[in-house]
Amino acid sequence: PATAPDALDRSAVRVIAHRGSSAALPEHTLAAYRLAVEEGADGLECDVRLTADGQLVCVHDRTVRRTSDGRGAVSAMTLAELGELDFGSWKSPQAPEPSPILTLAQLLELVADAGRPVELAIETKHPTRYAGRTEAELLRLLRHYGLLPSTPAESSVRIMSFSELSLHRIRRAAPAIPTVYLLERRLPLLGRTKALPGGAGIAGPGIDLVRANPGLVTALRRAGHRVHVWTVDDPADVELCLELGVEALITNRPRDVLTRLGR
Ligand code: G3P
Ligand code: CA
Repeated sequence: PATAPDALDRSAVRVIAHRGSSAALPEHTLAAYRLAVEEGADGLECDVRLTADGQLVCVHDRTVRRTSDGRGAVSAMTLAELGELDFGSWKSPQAPEPSPILTLAQLLELVADAGRPVELAIETKHPTRYAGRTEAELLRLLRHYGLLPSTPAESSVRIMSFSELSLHRIRRAAPAIPTVYLLERRLPLLGRTKALPGGAGIAGPGIDLVRANPGLVTALRRAGHRVHVWTVDDPADVELCLELGVEALITNRPRDVLTRLGR
């Protein structure tokens, strides 16, 4: 049998802050992303959704119920309506300042002003609903901020999705942007085939899947795929991913993971 691919150099592993430094501060807020940059994260992960008036905002759930003091679906609210809500107090009732909705444009500004290179891993949420408008607006913003690469190697941005359709749309419109196919359940043929669903260049399994099937990562790497895993907070999971040669760890606790990596 073929031997497993080598583990990667620990110093080369990328640490990506999942929704910002979101164990410490409310997810998808400017404060959580600023903290992740201060803590030395290599990159920032965020989920994007389209508002009723076509703006991309950084929200994970379909509705604002869990992470704000309001109610309703993001897609049914305008940016101005979302701007009335506080996205901080659900996690930090004593927060000194309210945390307004974060737009993708504001996150791109933060990255532009970070003073050092910061990668972005942007996930399109439920994009099938919007007939390509999510991807079109995402690419428009990336172009505006000078983040559309000519080659995958020079890109500081990756676009991730559980949706093959969304990844296809991105690859058709901007083939140089690296894309990540996210998966939660084992796909039996994945790893044996050369191509990933959606034409993605990178596989993004969840840590539960990796724990249950570590051979999946080995198979994916043998097939020549890069592997990025979410959400890796536990020290044992960090070690497992390092052994398996995972290239990027997406974590709610970027400082702890960096410390484990000796950085
Ligand atoms: O980084 C990918 C990961 O965030 C996907 O799951 O539910 O946290 O968006 P979820
Ligand atoms: Ca996500």
